[in-house]
Amino acid sequence: MNKNIAVIRGDGIGPEIVEQALLILDKIAELYGHTFNYTDVDMGGCAIDKWGDPLPAAELEKCVNSDSVLLGAVGGDKWNNVPGEMRPEKGLLRLRAGMGVYSNNRPAKIWGQLASASPLKKSIVDKGIDFIIVRELIGGIYFGEHRTDSVDGEDVATDILKYSEKEIERIGRIGFETAMKRGKKLCSVEKSNVLDSSRLWKKVMHKLAEEYPEVELSDMLVDNCAMQIVKNPAQFDVIVTENMFGDILSDEASMITGSIGMIPSSSLGGTSCGLYEPIHGSAPDIAGTDAANPIGTILSAAMMLRYSFDMASEADAIENAVSAFLDKGYRTADIMPNGEDAESCVKVGCKECGKLIIENLKR
Ligand code: IPM
Ligand code: MG
Repeated sequence: MNKNIAVIRGDGIGPEIVEQALLILDKIAELYGHTFNYTDVDMGGCAIDKWGDPLPAAELEKCVNSDSVLLGAVGGDKWNNVPGEMRPEKGLLRLRAGMGVYSNNRPAKIWGQLASASPLKKSIVDKGIDFIIVRELIGGIYFGEHRTDSVDGEDVATDILKYSEKEIERIGRIGFETAMKRGKKLCSVEKSNVLDSSRLWKKVMHKLAEEYPEVELSDMLVDNCAMQIVKNPAQFDVIVTENMFGDILSDEASMITGSIGMIPSSSLGGTSCGLYEPIHGSAPDIAGTDAANPIGTILSAAMMLRYSFDMASEADAIENAVSAFLDKGYRTADIMPNGEDAESCVKVGCKECGKLIIENLKR
């Protein structure tokens, strides 16, 4: 197959981790006889520096016209003081909205080899951690009106959290469909004891549940969910939630699996053209030091093959190669254990990590 991939290297560690993911895709192309064409896209801080805009229209156009988009990370201290509309993150939000990718899928799965890296007690980890957060991605408070007014001599800032029934229904459907393909348990997370938008969310979820009698639907308040994720993560199969709650809970969920550096994500809308990115940020403090973990990006590339290109065997091959890499005791700095556990492990940099995963790639 011939596929056109838009590649956003971005800022901080973005270029280093994306480079390793592309080398892995090249190896997959060679092993399976595919052709992957890459088109570089400027987004984030580097686009602000070059074009004065975190996502110029022509760059978004390249993404929309591709078969899928692979993204490293954007942002950094350097652009912290630019106006809100011009921040690197705004480029990412415009990209998500411009591509119409309303459904963000973030798996929280513990790799057996990394169980000791989880900050949770062994007795909790041993019950298993394997769930998915389905996060609404192009609505809610991220996309409501943002305003700062001057009232009686002081600044007053407003951010609106708004959802329509249709927006809730389409993400709810993804939640139910995802649950149908897994353990048939869906937990809808909201704050219906306080927010109108959450009460509407809950109502729409329960109406949808009538179409999915096989799925066991439960409701959970977001504050309780934050607690349950560390208390008893084994209870979750699929969580569906709005944009900001999903942002916060997915960072928490990633941490209990050992490292945020390991977690990929997919974002899809009405077409097969998806956006694939690790869930971690641009980590400017370690950029250029070869210390980053490229696995979140490599696994994002695997998700792209699986969900946008229908290449399940190729995706399996990448995931198996990552597992073999971990089996052999190789660890990047973020997943390197301390003390006795470190004796059986070998610390590797970003480039070496990519190279070793390629060596373990088999058809
Ligand atoms: C994420 C990030 C982004 C978000 C930021 C960089 C805008 O935290 O993908 O989780 O909040 O969605
Ligand atoms: Mg986040």
